[in-house]
Amino acid sequence: MKNLDIKYIQKNLKTREFGRKLFYFEQLDSTSSHLAELSKGSAGQGTVVIAEQQTAGRGRQGNSWHSPPGPGLYFSLLLKPELPSIKLSGLTLALGCSAAETIEGITNCPVTVKWPNDLYCNNRKVGGMLTEMQSHGGLIDNAVIGIGLNVNNEAVPLELCDTASSLFLETGKATSREDLLVGLLSGLEDDYRLFREQGFKSFAGRLTARFFLQGKQASVQDGLGIRLRGVVSGFDSDGCLLLTDQQGRTVKCCSGTVTEMEP
Ligand code: BTN
Repeated sequence: MKNLDIKYIQKNLKTREFGRKLFYFEQLDSTSSHLAELSKGSAGQGTVVIAEQQTAGRGRQGNSWHSPPGPGLYFSLLLKPELPSIKLSGLTLALGCSAAETIEGITNCPVTVKWPNDLYCNNRKVGGMLTEMQSHGGLIDNAVIGIGLNVNNEAVPLELCDTASSLFLETGKATSREDLLVGLLSGLEDDYRLFREQGFKSFAGRLTARFFLQGKQASVQDGLGIRLRGVVSGFDSDGCLLLTDQQGRTVKCCSGTVTEMEP
């Protein structure tokens, strides 16, 4: 498969900030690790690091992210939101919603979001987002948004084939990784601005429409390792997940991993 056409990307990118500084590598350990290093220097908001291949791609919760050369898209975007840290989960959810809409618009594959940031097509995971931040005094200084997408993969590793897929496997069509990146950066820039102006509330409706677990029985292992169970009823104004437990109480979860349970 061909390498990304960076000239085409730069020619077609109409954003103000996102991707205007773009660092391209044939191979990196992780685009997010590299961008986190750059963020300690002069890298500004909107800086993007992209690699054809990652040798130590990272997923959420200490998982690795399979990043072979050729079919996938692996990039990280630097934000400097100066927002209270509590807003991070709403921000990542809003950006996940934005990414889902762009992918669906380009591929016609209906994309749902599994809280907090897994992207699903036909009930199979085709991508994910990893948000890492540095904060001080309760304010986010740097947020590195890492996005990994299985785009034109003709297969996924055997151990993942029950749950994971690619856009190619789900649609039967190849997607231009360049057009996908241009579309994603443009949508993310617009939606980041919207989030800064209006907060999470403007995404609640958009997200509910494509929310993988809405109304389903789920179990959440929260950030402190506590397991919560209930029916997913939506999100609060900060983007935290709301569950209704067996006693009818609403429980809120702002970080962790959610698993669908048999009803
Ligand atoms: C997940 O679903 O667990 C999140 C996966 C995020 C993977 C991307 S690929 C680009 C960026 N660099 C990394 O090391 N991870 C993210």
